[in-house]
Amino acid sequence: MKNTREHRSREPEAQEKGSDVSITRRTFLHKSLVTGAAVAGGSALNFFETFTTMSVAHAATESLSFAWVSDTHLYPKTLNTRFVEKATRAFSEVQAMGPKIDFMIFGGDLAQLGDPVEIQLGAELLKEVKIKKYFIPGEHDWYLDMGEMWNKTFGPTPWKFDHKGVRFIGLDTVGNAPDYWSAKKMSAKERMGHMSALDGQVAGPWSGVGHKQLQWLQTALSDWDKSKPVIVFTHTPLYECYAPWNFWTRDWREAQEILKPFKNVTNIHGHVHQPLYHETGNMRFIGQLATSWPWPYAPEGVPPLTKAMVRVDPGDPFDGVGWGHVTFAKDRAEYEYKMWRKQVYAVAEADAGTGDNRNQILTPRIADRAWPY
Ligand SMILES: [Fe+2]
Ligand SMILES: [Fe+2]
Repeated sequence: MKNTREHRSREPEAQEKGSDVSITRRTFLHKSLVTGAAVAGGSALNFFETFTTMSVAHAATESLSFAWVSDTHLYPKTLNTRFVEKATRAFSEVQAMGPKIDFMIFGGDLAQLGDPVEIQLGAELLKEVKIKKYFIPGEHDWYLDMGEMWNKTFGPTPWKFDHKGVRFIGLDTVGNAPDYWSAKKMSAKERMGHMSALDGQVAGPWSGVGHKQLQWLQTALSDWDKSKPVIVFTHTPLYECYAPWNFWTRDWREAQEILKPFKNVTNIHGHVHQPLYHETGNMRFIGQLATSWPWPYAPEGVPPLTKAMVRVDPGDPFDGVGWGHVTFAKDRAEYEYKMWRKQVYAVAEADAGTGDNRNQILTPRIADRAWPY
Protein backbone atom coordinates (compact mmCIF):
# COMPACT_ATOMS: atom_id res chain seq x y z
CA MET A 1 0.00 0.00 0.00
CA LYS A 2 1.41 3.34 -0.97
CA ASN A 3 1.49 5.96 1.67
CA THR A 4 -0.72 9.00 1.47
CA ARG A 5 2.03 11.26 0.22
CA GLU A 6 2.66 9.01 -2.77
CA HIS A 7 -1.01 8.91 -3.56
CA ARG A 8 -1.04 12.65 -3.61
CA SER A 9 1.71 12.96 -6.17
CA ARG A 10 0.59 13.71 -9.68
CA GLU A 11 1.57 11.53 -12.57
CA PRO A 12 3.90 13.46 -14.88
CA GLU A 13 2.90 11.63 -18.08
CA ALA A 14 -0.73 12.36 -17.52
CA GLN A 15 0.07 16.01 -17.02
CA GLU A 16 2.21 16.18 -20.13
CA LYS A 17 -0.54 14.66 -22.23
CA GLY A 18 -2.95 17.15 -20.80
CA SER A 19 -4.88 14.27 -19.27
CA ASP A 20 -7.88 15.26 -21.25
CA VAL A 21 -10.07 12.59 -19.77
CA SER A 22 -13.78 12.59 -19.46
CA ILE A 23 -14.54 10.51 -16.45
CA THR A 24 -18.08 9.28 -16.30
CA ARG A 25 -19.67 9.01 -12.92
CA ARG A 26 -19.69 5.25 -13.16
CA THR A 27 -16.09 4.97 -14.24
CA PHE A 28 -14.96 7.30 -11.55
CA LEU A 29 -16.73 5.32 -8.90
CA HIS A 30 -15.27 2.12 -10.21
CA LYS A 31 -11.76 3.51 -10.13
CA SER A 32 -12.07 4.81 -6.64
CA LEU A 33 -13.51 1.52 -5.44
CA VAL A 34 -10.81 -0.52 -7.10
CA THR A 35 -7.97 1.49 -5.65
CA GLY A 36 -9.61 2.29 -2.32
CA ALA A 37 -6.92 4.89 -2.09
CA ALA A 38 -6.65 7.73 0.33
CA VAL A 39 -7.40 11.01 -1.30
CA ALA A 40 -5.69 14.16 -0.33
CA GLY A 41 -7.75 16.85 -1.94
CA GLY A 42 -5.28 19.50 -0.93
CA SER A 43 -4.11 20.87 2.35
CA ALA A 44 -7.32 22.83 2.84
CA LEU A 45 -9.07 19.86 4.39
CA ASN A 46 -9.29 19.91 8.14
CA PHE A 47 -9.36 16.92 10.43
CA PHE A 48 -11.26 17.03 13.66
CA GLU A 49 -12.25 14.64 16.37
CA THR A 50 -15.23 12.61 15.31
CA PHE A 51 -18.58 14.22 15.78
CA THR A 52 -21.63 14.33 13.65
CA THR A 53 -23.27 17.66 14.23
CA MET A 54 -22.31 21.24 13.59
CA SER A 55 -23.82 24.54 14.42
CA VAL A 56 -25.06 26.06 11.21
CA ALA A 57 -27.47 28.86 11.93
CA HIS A 58 -29.13 30.94 14.58
CA ALA A 59 -32.26 32.90 15.32
CA ALA A 60 -35.04 30.55 14.33
CA THR A 61 -38.00 31.60 16.40
CA GLU A 62 -39.35 28.10 17.10
CA SER A 63 -37.81 24.69 16.96
CA LEU A 64 -38.09 22.96 13.62
CA SER A 65 -36.57 19.99 11.96
CA PHE A 66 -36.36 18.60 8.45
CA ALA A 67 -34.67 15.89 6.41
CA TRP A 68 -32.66 16.18 3.20
CA VAL A 69 -32.32 13.28 0.77
CA SER A 70 -30.71 13.61 -2.68
CA ASP A 71 -28.65 12.01 -5.42
CA THR A 72 -30.30 8.61 -5.45
CA HIS A 73 -29.34 8.16 -9.16
CA LEU A 74 -31.87 5.43 -9.80
CA TYR A 75 -31.62 3.17 -12.84
CA PRO A 76 -34.59 1.24 -14.21
CA LYS A 77 -34.99 -1.83 -12.02
CA THR A 78 -34.58 -4.07 -15.06
CA LEU A 79 -31.03 -2.73 -15.45
CA ASN A 80 -29.91 -2.85 -11.84
CA THR A 81 -31.16 -2.20 -8.32
CA ARG A 82 -27.89 -1.25 -6.69
CA PHE A 83 -29.10 2.23 -5.77
CA VAL A 84 -32.72 1.33 -5.14
CA GLU A 85 -31.91 -0.37 -1.83
CA LYS A 86 -30.09 2.68 -0.55
CA ALA A 87 -32.81 5.12 -1.60
CA THR A 88 -35.38 2.85 0.03
CA ARG A 89 -33.36 2.75 3.22
CA ALA A 90 -33.09 6.55 3.34
CA PHE A 91 -36.82 7.06 2.76
CA SER A 92 -37.70 4.46 5.43
CA GLU A 93 -35.43 6.14 7.93
CA VAL A 94 -36.94 9.54 7.21
CA GLN A 95 -40.43 8.12 7.60
CA ALA A 96 -39.40 6.36 10.85
CA MET A 97 -38.62 9.76 12.37
CA GLY A 98 -42.36 10.40 12.35
CA PRO A 99 -43.48 13.68 13.88
CA LYS A 100 -39.91 14.54 14.85
CA ILE A 101 -39.46 16.13 11.43
CA ASP A 102 -41.62 18.77 9.81
CA PHE A 103 -40.87 18.01 6.16
CA MET A 104 -38.45 16.42 3.74
CA ILE A 105 -36.62 18.06 0.86
CA PHE A 106 -35.50 15.96 -2.07
CA GLY A 107 -32.49 17.73 -3.55
CA GLY A 108 -32.24 16.38 -7.10
CA ASP A 109 -30.61 13.60 -9.15
CA LEU A 110 -33.42 11.20 -8.38
CA ALA A 111 -32.80 9.55 -11.76
CA GLN A 112 -29.56 8.54 -13.46
CA LEU A 113 -30.33 9.36 -17.10
CA GLY A 114 -33.63 11.24 -16.88
CA ASP A 115 -35.50 8.14 -18.04
CA PRO A 116 -39.24 8.39 -17.27
CA VAL A 117 -39.00 4.86 -15.83
CA GLU A 118 -36.35 6.07 -13.39
CA ILE A 119 -38.35 9.13 -12.35
CA GLN A 120 -41.46 7.02 -11.95
CA LEU A 121 -39.53 4.51 -9.86
CA GLY A 122 -38.31 7.35 -7.66
CA ALA A 123 -41.85 8.69 -7.26
CA GLU A 124 -42.98 5.21 -6.17
CA LEU A 125 -40.20 4.87 -3.61
CA LEU A 126 -40.92 8.36 -2.31
CA LYS A 127 -44.45 7.31 -1.39
CA GLU A 128 -42.88 5.66 1.66
CA VAL A 129 -42.39 9.16 3.06
CA LYS A 130 -45.79 10.40 4.20
CA ILE A 131 -44.79 13.79 5.55
CA LYS A 132 -44.78 16.94 3.42
CA LYS A 133 -42.17 16.75 0.66
CA TYR A 134 -40.52 19.45 -1.44
CA PHE A 135 -38.49 18.92 -4.60
CA ILE A 136 -35.75 20.57 -6.60
CA PRO A 137 -34.28 18.95 -9.74
CA GLY A 138 -30.77 17.70 -10.49
CA GLU A 139 -29.15 17.67 -13.93
CA HIS A 140 -29.66 13.90 -14.17
CA ASP A 141 -33.41 14.46 -13.91
CA TRP A 142 -33.55 17.10 -16.57
CA TYR A 143 -31.69 16.77 -19.84
CA LEU A 144 -33.48 13.90 -21.55
CA ASP A 145 -36.75 15.80 -21.89
CA MET A 146 -35.71 19.22 -20.54
CA GLY A 147 -37.51 18.75 -17.25
CA GLU A 148 -40.89 17.83 -18.65
CA MET A 149 -41.34 14.60 -16.72
CA TRP A 150 -39.80 16.06 -13.58
CA ASN A 151 -42.09 19.09 -13.54
CA LYS A 152 -45.12 16.96 -14.31
CA THR A 153 -44.33 14.60 -11.44
CA PHE A 154 -43.00 16.93 -8.75
CA GLY A 155 -44.08 20.42 -9.76
CA PRO A 156 -42.18 23.48 -10.92
CA THR A 157 -39.20 25.21 -9.32
CA PRO A 158 -38.52 27.85 -7.92
CA TRP A 159 -40.75 27.94 -4.88
CA LYS A 160 -40.85 29.43 -1.41
CA PHE A 161 -42.66 28.98 1.86
CA ASP A 162 -42.37 30.22 5.44
CA HIS A 163 -42.21 27.85 8.34
CA LYS A 164 -41.71 28.69 12.02
CA GLY A 165 -39.91 31.95 11.35
CA VAL A 166 -37.70 30.71 8.50
CA ARG A 167 -38.16 31.49 4.81
CA PHE A 168 -37.40 28.41 2.73
CA ILE A 169 -36.57 28.77 -0.94
CA GLY A 170 -36.03 26.11 -3.59
CA LEU A 171 -34.10 27.08 -6.74
CA ASP A 172 -33.49 25.27 -10.00
CA THR A 173 -29.78 25.58 -10.76
CA VAL A 174 -29.66 22.78 -13.32
CA GLY A 175 -32.24 23.57 -16.00
CA ASN A 176 -30.69 26.80 -17.28
CA ALA A 177 -27.76 25.52 -19.31
CA PRO A 178 -26.79 27.48 -22.43
CA ASP A 179 -27.92 25.51 -25.49
CA TYR A 180 -24.91 23.35 -26.34
CA TRP A 181 -26.97 20.70 -28.14
CA SER A 182 -28.86 22.31 -31.06
CA ALA A 183 -25.85 23.42 -33.10
CA LYS A 184 -24.34 19.97 -32.68
CA LYS A 185 -27.65 18.34 -33.64
CA MET A 186 -27.58 16.11 -30.59
CA SER A 187 -30.30 13.65 -29.80
CA ALA A 188 -31.96 13.92 -26.41
CA LYS A 189 -30.03 10.86 -25.26
CA GLU A 190 -26.72 12.34 -26.39
CA ARG A 191 -27.50 15.55 -24.54
CA MET A 192 -28.32 13.63 -21.39
CA GLY A 193 -25.20 11.52 -21.84
CA HIS A 194 -22.97 14.59 -21.75
CA MET A 195 -24.65 15.80 -18.60
CA SER A 196 -23.85 12.56 -16.83
CA ALA A 197 -20.09 13.08 -17.08
CA LEU A 198 -18.53 14.60 -14.00
CA ASP A 199 -16.06 16.72 -15.93
CA GLY A 200 -17.88 16.70 -19.27
CA GLN A 201 -16.24 18.92 -21.85
CA VAL A 202 -19.27 19.49 -24.05
CA ALA A 203 -21.98 20.95 -21.84
CA GLY A 204 -19.88 23.89 -20.67
CA PRO A 205 -20.78 25.72 -17.47
CA TRP A 206 -24.32 24.39 -17.30
CA SER A 207 -25.14 25.12 -13.71
CA GLY A 208 -26.80 28.48 -13.20
CA VAL A 209 -29.68 30.35 -11.61
CA GLY A 210 -30.35 32.47 -14.68
CA HIS A 211 -31.56 36.07 -14.95
CA LYS A 212 -35.25 35.25 -14.70
CA GLN A 213 -34.85 33.21 -11.55
CA LEU A 214 -32.52 35.78 -10.00
CA GLN A 215 -35.27 38.33 -10.43
CA TRP A 216 -37.70 35.88 -8.87
CA LEU A 217 -35.33 35.45 -5.91
CA GLN A 218 -35.09 39.18 -5.42
CA THR A 219 -38.87 39.48 -5.35
CA ALA A 220 -39.29 36.38 -3.18
CA LEU A 221 -37.17 38.00 -0.48
CA SER A 222 -38.42 41.57 -0.82
CA ASP A 223 -40.98 41.28 1.98
CA TRP A 224 -38.77 39.28 4.34
CA ASP A 225 -37.20 40.87 7.42
CA LYS A 226 -33.43 41.02 6.94
CA SER A 227 -32.80 39.70 10.44
CA LYS A 228 -34.87 36.56 9.95
CA PRO A 229 -33.34 33.26 8.77
CA VAL A 230 -33.39 32.23 5.12
CA ILE A 231 -32.62 28.70 3.92
CA VAL A 232 -32.01 28.21 0.20
CA PHE A 233 -32.06 24.72 -1.30
CA THR A 234 -30.14 24.17 -4.53
CA HIS A 235 -28.78 21.11 -6.29
CA THR A 236 -25.38 22.69 -7.04
CA PRO A 237 -23.54 24.83 -4.48
CA LEU A 238 -24.24 28.58 -4.58
CA TYR A 239 -20.54 29.33 -4.55
CA GLU A 240 -17.52 28.26 -6.56
CA CYS A 241 -16.00 25.11 -5.15
CA TYR A 242 -14.59 23.38 -8.22
CA ALA A 243 -15.90 24.49 -11.61
CA PRO A 244 -14.24 21.73 -13.71
CA TRP A 245 -16.58 19.23 -12.03
CA ASN A 246 -19.47 21.71 -11.96
CA PHE A 247 -19.22 21.91 -8.19
CA TRP A 248 -20.47 25.48 -8.48
CA THR A 249 -23.26 27.63 -9.88
CA ARG A 250 -21.88 29.93 -12.56
CA ASP A 251 -23.83 33.03 -11.47
CA TRP A 252 -23.29 32.47 -7.76
CA ARG A 253 -22.03 36.04 -7.38
CA GLU A 254 -25.36 37.49 -8.46
CA ALA A 255 -27.24 35.08 -6.22
CA GLN A 256 -25.07 35.92 -3.24
CA GLU A 257 -25.49 39.62 -3.93
CA ILE A 258 -29.24 39.20 -3.48
CA LEU A 259 -28.79 37.13 -0.30
CA LYS A 260 -26.06 39.29 1.23
CA PRO A 261 -28.32 41.80 3.05
CA PHE A 262 -29.87 39.00 5.09
CA LYS A 263 -28.24 38.31 8.42
CA ASN A 264 -28.69 34.57 8.50
CA VAL A 265 -28.57 32.63 5.23
CA THR A 266 -27.95 28.92 4.80
CA ASN A 267 -27.57 27.22 1.42
CA ILE A 268 -28.05 23.47 1.57
CA HIS A 269 -27.02 21.68 -1.61
CA GLY A 270 -26.53 18.23 -3.12
CA HIS A 271 -24.62 17.25 -6.29
CA VAL A 272 -21.22 16.96 -4.60
CA HIS A 273 -22.00 13.65 -2.85
CA GLN A 274 -19.83 14.57 0.14
CA PRO A 275 -19.75 16.76 3.24
CA LEU A 276 -18.60 20.27 2.37
CA TYR A 277 -18.84 23.35 4.55
CA HIS A 278 -18.19 26.92 3.51
CA GLU A 279 -18.90 30.34 5.00
CA THR A 280 -18.79 33.84 3.63
CA GLY A 281 -20.20 36.84 5.48
CA ASN A 282 -23.61 35.92 6.85
CA MET A 283 -23.93 32.96 4.48
CA ARG A 284 -23.07 29.36 5.07
CA PHE A 285 -23.13 26.48 2.60
CA ILE A 286 -23.55 22.84 3.45
CA GLY A 287 -22.87 20.01 1.01
CA GLN A 288 -24.82 16.81 1.37
CA LEU A 289 -24.17 13.12 1.17
CA ALA A 290 -25.71 11.16 -1.69
CA THR A 291 -27.53 7.93 -1.09
CA SER A 292 -25.91 6.44 -4.22
CA TRP A 293 -22.12 6.85 -4.04
CA PRO A 294 -19.54 9.29 -2.64
CA TRP A 295 -17.40 11.49 -4.88
CA PRO A 296 -13.75 12.07 -4.06
CA TYR A 297 -12.84 15.53 -2.82
CA ALA A 298 -11.84 17.86 -5.64
CA PRO A 299 -8.11 18.40 -6.11
CA GLU A 300 -8.56 22.07 -5.26
CA GLY A 301 -11.26 24.47 -4.12
CA VAL A 302 -12.48 22.52 -1.10
CA PRO A 303 -13.41 25.21 1.45
CA PRO A 304 -10.99 25.36 4.42
CA LEU A 305 -13.82 24.94 6.94
CA THR A 306 -14.76 21.56 5.49
CA LYS A 307 -14.26 18.60 7.75
CA ALA A 308 -13.23 15.75 5.48
CA MET A 309 -15.42 12.70 5.49
CA VAL A 310 -13.90 9.41 6.47
CA ARG A 311 -12.38 7.15 3.84
CA VAL A 312 -14.95 4.75 2.54
CA ASP A 313 -14.77 0.98 2.78
CA PRO A 314 -14.80 -0.11 -0.87
CA GLY A 315 -16.36 -3.43 0.07
CA ASP A 316 -19.42 -1.85 1.63
CA PRO A 317 -21.89 -0.23 -0.81
CA PHE A 318 -23.71 1.36 2.12
CA ASP A 319 -20.56 3.20 3.24
CA GLY A 320 -19.94 6.87 2.52
CA VAL A 321 -23.56 7.54 1.66
CA GLY A 322 -26.68 8.58 3.51
CA TRP A 323 -28.92 11.58 4.11
CA GLY A 324 -29.17 14.66 6.31
CA HIS A 325 -31.14 15.93 9.27
CA VAL A 326 -31.33 19.61 10.22
CA THR A 327 -32.73 20.79 13.53
CA PHE A 328 -33.37 24.38 14.57
CA ALA A 329 -34.04 24.98 18.25
CA LYS A 330 -34.48 28.53 19.52
CA ASP A 331 -31.18 30.20 18.68
CA ARG A 332 -29.28 27.20 17.44
CA ALA A 333 -29.45 24.75 14.60
CA GLU A 334 -27.55 21.54 14.11
CA TYR A 335 -26.75 19.56 11.04
CA GLU A 336 -26.36 15.83 11.28
CA TYR A 337 -25.00 13.64 8.50
CA LYS A 338 -26.87 10.36 8.62
CA MET A 339 -24.09 8.35 7.06
CA TRP A 340 -24.59 4.65 7.48
CA ARG A 341 -21.61 4.17 9.71
CA LYS A 342 -20.71 5.51 13.13
CA GLN A 343 -17.76 7.60 12.08
CA VAL A 344 -18.46 10.36 9.59
CA TYR A 345 -15.42 12.62 9.71
CA ALA A 346 -11.81 11.59 9.29
CA VAL A 347 -9.51 12.05 12.26
CA ALA A 348 -6.30 11.91 10.22
CA GLU A 349 -5.44 12.70 6.64
CA ALA A 350 -4.74 9.05 5.86
CA ASP A 351 -8.30 8.15 6.90
CA ALA A 352 -9.91 10.74 4.65
CA GLY A 353 -11.44 10.99 1.24
CA THR A 354 -13.10 8.59 -1.06
CA GLY A 355 -11.06 8.38 -4.21
CA ASP A 356 -7.77 8.18 -5.97
CA ASN A 357 -6.07 11.50 -6.54
CA ARG A 358 -4.44 10.19 -9.69
CA ASN A 359 -7.89 10.33 -11.26
CA GLN A 360 -8.20 13.97 -10.43
CA ILE A 361 -5.71 15.44 -12.87
CA LEU A 362 -8.21 17.15 -15.08
CA THR A 363 -7.73 19.86 -17.62
CA PRO A 364 -9.96 22.90 -17.15
CA ARG A 365 -12.51 22.93 -19.92
CA ILE A 366 -12.30 25.51 -22.66
CA ALA A 367 -15.73 26.74 -21.66
CA ASP A 368 -14.54 27.36 -18.10
CA ARG A 369 -11.51 29.24 -19.31
CA ALA A 370 -13.74 31.37 -21.50
CA TRP A 371 -16.15 32.14 -18.68
CA PRO A 372 -15.68 35.73 -17.57
CA TYR A 373 -15.40 35.00 -13.82
FE1 LIG B 1 -25.64 13.48 -8.07
FE1 LIG C 1 -25.96 16.51 -9.86
